[in-house]
Amino acid sequence: MAHLDENLSLQDLASLVKQAPEDVSRELIEIGLKSPYKSAVPPKIVRAYLQYKGFKIPKQTVSFQMLKGGVAKTTSALNLGWRAAMYGARVLMLDLDQQANLTFALGVDAENLPVWVDVVEKRATIEQAVISLGEGLDLIPSSLNNSVLDRVLLQSNRNWAQAVKGPLREIADNYDLVIIDTAPSLSILNTAVTCASSTVVLPINPDKFSMAGVKKHLADLKELEAEFDLKLEKRVLFTRFDGREMASREILSQCVDLFEDLLMKNYIRSSSEVKNTIGSGKTIFSTKNPAREDYDLVTREILQIG
Ligand SMILES: Nc1ncnc2c1ncn2[C@@H]1O[C@H](COP(=O)(O)OP(=O)(O)O)[C@@H](O)[C@H]1O
Ligand SMILES: [Mg+2]
Repeated sequence: MAHLDENLSLQDLASLVKQAPEDVSRELIEIGLKSPYKSAVPPKIVRAYLQYKGFKIPKQTVSFQMLKGGVAKTTSALNLGWRAAMYGARVLMLDLDQQANLTFALGVDAENLPVWVDVVEKRATIEQAVISLGEGLDLIPSSLNNSVLDRVLLQSNRNWAQAVKGPLREIADNYDLVIIDTAPSLSILNTAVTCASSTVVLPINPDKFSMAGVKKHLADLKELEAEFDLKLEKRVLFTRFDGREMASREILSQCVDLFEDLLMKNYIRSSSEVKNTIGSGKTIFSTKNPAREDYDLVTREILQIG
């Protein structure tokens, strides 16, 4: 199992608060938050320090959705979760894709562990489904057992639209950020995910199918907002941008025109490191590559810090 023992570098913390690293070090000592490491700061200390500096991490449930596969939903959920935990947010990642790519990327095999369908069918409590991955980072894994969820929800005589939000409410106090990874569809389960979300992030790739997918998915979200009386923050995240490719440049500029305020300020550049870190026990934040910087900025944008 992956274990998050990677800490935010003093350099990154200093750049967030726009001070010199030496000054941040001194300040940490002054307020009794001395880090056990010379050039890194563990999540609990980052958390206390950011609170001291007046940053406030809002409580959010962010789902990654897009009816098309391969657009970097899982990659984005993973990197946001890791990075947010390094910034001291208390994070729960909830894998609701029965393909369980997020679960596997974190080195977990949940075939014999409780997953969401067990929580919904009350074979397990939500607490029993939570796995700790390190300080401030938990996972509720997924497995193929979740493939029956849609049918279970349809046949249930309880309100299926609350099938994600309801159980999550029981552990809401433990987390600042709940991140939900989903399968590429407009399933009943994903409707329940939408009902549980404060923010829906729709990743888009530089290809025209992806563009059509986002339009369709946005239209669907609009219907759900009306039907279930939701107030969703919707964000389009451009991923796998490659400035050398015409398609990347063209589709990014179309996104700017078409999605305007929905488009996230930061986009993710293409980088082979993204694949290399999956399942390696490392995160992209320990490497030097463009996607590292981009996911850092996206995390700050979502946490509304810096
Ligand atoms: N910024 C990136 N640069 C290069 N490859 C990427 C990047 N983001 C994602 N990928 C790759 O694209 C593929 C699809 O990503 P994934 O997150 O699994 O998409 P989804 O969850 O939407 O199906 C994966 O092989 C992943 O490693
Ligand atoms: Mg995925």
